[in-house]
Amino acid sequence: MRPLIAGNWKMNGLSADAPEIEALISAFDGAMPEKIDVLICPPATLLGGLAAAYEDEGVQFGGQDCHSAPSGAHTGEVSAEMLADAGAAFVIVGHSERRSDNGETDAIVRAKAEAALRAGLAPIICVGETEAERDAGRAEAVVAGQLEGSLPRTDGDEIVIAYEPVWAIGTGRTPTLDDIADMHAAIRKIVGDRRRILYGGSVKPGNAAEILRLDDVDGALVGGASLKAADFAAIIRAL
Ligand code: PGA
Repeated sequence: MRPLIAGNWKMNGLSADAPEIEALISAFDGAMPEKIDVLICPPATLLGGLAAAYEDEGVQFGGQDCHSAPSGAHTGEVSAEMLADAGAAFVIVGHSERRSDNGETDAIVRAKAEAALRAGLAPIICVGETEAERDAGRAEAVVAGQLEGSLPRTDGDEIVIAYEPVWAIGTGRTPTLDDIADMHAAIRKIVGDRRRILYGGSVKPGNAAEILRLDDVDGALVGGASLKAADFAAIIRAL
C-alpha cells in the first residue's frame, strides 16, 4: 500500500503562508519522496493558488470538506466539483470538528464521500471515538458504526479512512500503540485490503515513526504539526 501523509491546515493559512510549502519542498532538496503521497489540505481560499504553483513539485492538494451537491443554492458552500476544478485530488469528509461544530451525521458524511467520488476526488473519511466512549469500552463499536453509516455504498479503492480519536485531536495525547494497532486491525476487517487507513490525532515528529511502523497504519492525517514545514518534513522522513 502506498503510504499517504496528509496535512490538515484547518482554518489556518493566509497567502503569506504559502512559503511553508516552498520550505517543505526545499527540505527535500526539491525532490519529494517518490514512494509516498504527500498531501496538503489548505483552506479553500488558498487551494487553487497553491495547487497551480506546486502540484508539479510532488505535493498534492485537497479540500477539508465539501457539499454533497455539485452546484446550487447553498450560500457559502463548496462542492467537490469545485475543489477538483481548483486542483484538489482529495477531500477530507466527516472530520470530528465538522461532526461536532456543524452537526454532520454519518448520512451527511456518506453523501459527501459519494460526492467526492462523483467529482473524481479521493475522500478521506474520518472516524473516531470520544474519550467517554473509549472509557466505556465502546471505541471499536463506535468506529464500526461510523464506518457502516459513512462509507459510500459504491466500491472505490481510492477511499481513505482516517482513524482520529476525538480526544487525541490537538491535545498532545495519543492512544497506546497497542490501541492504535487494534483499532486499525478492526477497521481493516471492515474496509478490506485495498484502502488506506491513516492515523490522526497529535501526530508529531517525536511519535510519528513508532505510529507509522504499526501494521495497518498506511499513513497519517496531521493537523497542528502540518503547519510548520520543518515538523511536517520530519513526519514524512519518519515514514
Ligand atoms: P492534530 O489534528 O494533529 O492537531 O491533533 C489532527 C486532525 O484534526 O486531523
